[in-house]
Amino acid sequence: MREFLSTRELSSDSIYSILETAEAMRKKPESIRSERFAANLFFEVSTRTKTSFQVAEKRLGMETLDFQMESSSMTKGESLYDTVRTYEAIGADLLIVRHAYDHWYDELAGRISVPIINAGAGKGEHPTQSMLDLLTIYQEFGSFEGLNVVIAGDIKHSRVARSNAYALTTLGANVSFAAAPGFEDDSFDIPYVSMDEACDMCDVLMLLRIQHERHAQVSYRTTSYLGDYGLTMERERRMRDHAIVLHPAPVNRGVEIDTRLVECDRSRIFKQMENGVHTRMAIISILLNEWGAGHENFTEKYQTIAT
Ligand code: CP
Repeated sequence: MREFLSTRELSSDSIYSILETAEAMRKKPESIRSERFAANLFFEVSTRTKTSFQVAEKRLGMETLDFQMESSSMTKGESLYDTVRTYEAIGADLLIVRHAYDHWYDELAGRISVPIINAGAGKGEHPTQSMLDLLTIYQEFGSFEGLNVVIAGDIKHSRVARSNAYALTTLGANVSFAAAPGFEDDSFDIPYVSMDEACDMCDVLMLLRIQHERHAQVSYRTTSYLGDYGLTMERERRMRDHAIVLHPAPVNRGVEIDTRLVECDRSRIFKQMENGVHTRMAIISILLNEWGAGHENFTEKYQTIAT
């Protein structure tokens, strides 16, 4: 794995390797062998992803290079490529990029000589979010084969839905979508169920935020969305005893989910955030190891656990 941009081409073995490495990192984190710089280039806002990358880098003993778009030379017209190339030239060993374009990484392909991690690409993909979601499911169920996972909400505009649909399908889960009219994405060969059906049959209910900022026009009155398409108290009561609820957050409380359910027994929403640090430590470590810049004896320390 030379970069981490998408879950589409990830094999089942690669995914399990990341999850097992993340578990090993959770139990026994170790610093990498020498000073390394990670540049966190967020061209879109973030709380969880940016902060958990920062914590992951610190726990790995890395130096973090911050970036604020408003005070950067992008305000003078510098391009994404030139900004990224500049951080590489100055000494970044690793580039973590979030950008509003769905395929921002296409213009960097083959032009940058350090590993790149996709921290969110418009409506395209959010592969590190997917890995932390998978880790949360894995900790709960121990496998994915035959698991009923319903991804519910604004599928059409969600990079989280896309990355998880690819990865969960690869892992053998039974993936379904539940979406309000206009929020479907027909590019997937994945069946749709109603929210009531979803709550009756799922092992994992993965809720999504309505991505208002990616809509061309106002689409739903948020007052009626919860009752029509969200996780209400009544729907939660219908769920099977062992079923869990995920949400990548930020949560629109009272829209996708009744605010009383955000921290209910089934909810793993804050667990997902915690897992974000372990997962990102694992992805950084695997990539740096692949580039010859990571932990000493990485394979013995982590990959033997992972395979
Ligand atoms: N889930 C997620 O990507 O959150 P942030 O936008 O806060 O990083």
